[in-house]
Amino acid sequence: MTTNSTGAGRLERRMARGAAFLGSEVAVLGGAMSWVSERHLVAAISNAGGFGVIACGAMTPELLDAEIAGTKTLTGKPFGVNLITMHPQLTELIEVCAKHKVSHVVLAGGLPPKGSLEAIKASGAKCICFAPTLALAKKLIRSGVDALVIEGMEAGGHIGPVSTSVLAQEMLPEIANDVPVFVAGGIGRGQAIAGYLDMGAAGVQLGTRFVCATESIAHPNFKKAFIRASARDAVASVQIDARLPVIPVRALKNAGGELFTQKQREVAQALDEGRLAMAEAQLQIEHYWAGALRRAVIDGDVEHGSVMAGQSVGMVTKEEPVADIIATLMAEAAQALEKKAA
Ligand SMILES: Cc1cc2nc3c(=O)[nH]c(=O)nc-3n(C[C@H](O)[C@H](O)[C@H](O)COP(=O)(O)O)c2cc1C
Repeated sequence: MTTNSTGAGRLERRMARGAAFLGSEVAVLGGAMSWVSERHLVAAISNAGGFGVIACGAMTPELLDAEIAGTKTLTGKPFGVNLITMHPQLTELIEVCAKHKVSHVVLAGGLPPKGSLEAIKASGAKCICFAPTLALAKKLIRSGVDALVIEGMEAGGHIGPVSTSVLAQEMLPEIANDVPVFVAGGIGRGQAIAGYLDMGAAGVQLGTRFVCATESIAHPNFKKAFIRASARDAVASVQIDARLPVIPVRALKNAGGELFTQKQREVAQALDEGRLAMAEAQLQIEHYWAGALRRAVIDGDVEHGSVMAGQSVGMVTKEEPVADIIATLMAEAAQALEKKAA
């Protein structure tokens, strides 16, 4: 990045720690998105100076092995792998990352199971975890994580209950000196990046903004749905019965979402009438969305699939190369910092 203006120089200085940690030019992580964050998008983000992250999701160790190898053919720049802590073969997946000398492993979906953090670090990789609360952030830092992501409920995909701005205010002053902290959720423009960097973030993580990249393999219908949508269309799934837990997911409103509410009502009624046992009822709710993200991203069924998207979707207005997206974000951030300097 050039330092030919006060804003760009300030931006470079504010991102220096995050970029050095990632080994990238700019401290922007491409948030792992199941089915979307495969070799093409990941390599494009890293090649454009950001830091791409492969979404392992439900991949087998063999598939992850092939995906990492495929990504390496497309970029010589560093990239990471996102592993879900609940994956039944987490240990084997960590071994695959170690075999390929993946530099950064992101653990998502809950606290790292016993031994996983140690195994990642023993391989020489840096371990990045999600911190949902300040207490857990401090606990993760004590257990040796190298960096944290704090993600607010504006984000696409599985979400917590607190907004990005509140998490950032609550957590950055307490933990940003200990480890690099990357802020995620609802970031659509560089001005917001500048703001979080000013608050002490080492960098940011964006997902929604990269879905419509030219290099993204998401189905044209999926991209069209993003380009048409506004912030208010990206809604969190709602649980309607206390007995039937629903993990909140932010996605675009569609027929699948309406049918999910109907399904919850039917299952709750069947429970009331004793036609279903509790375990079976809960399983039916849990399994409702199985395969739904793939149906939307790969098959293009945006009516019945899950079109996971964050509230920043309103700021996605066209398909464009990753390099242009990153350049725009950086120019906006530099401009915001330039104004501050004036
Ligand atoms: C379509 C989609 C799929 C996602 N899948 C995953 C995933 O598999 N694992 C994960 O840790 N986060 C997942 N996320 C969250 C992103 O990694 C990222 O943290 C989030 O998109 C950041 O917020 P933003 O959408 O407001 O930019 C997903 C997000 C989207 C939009």
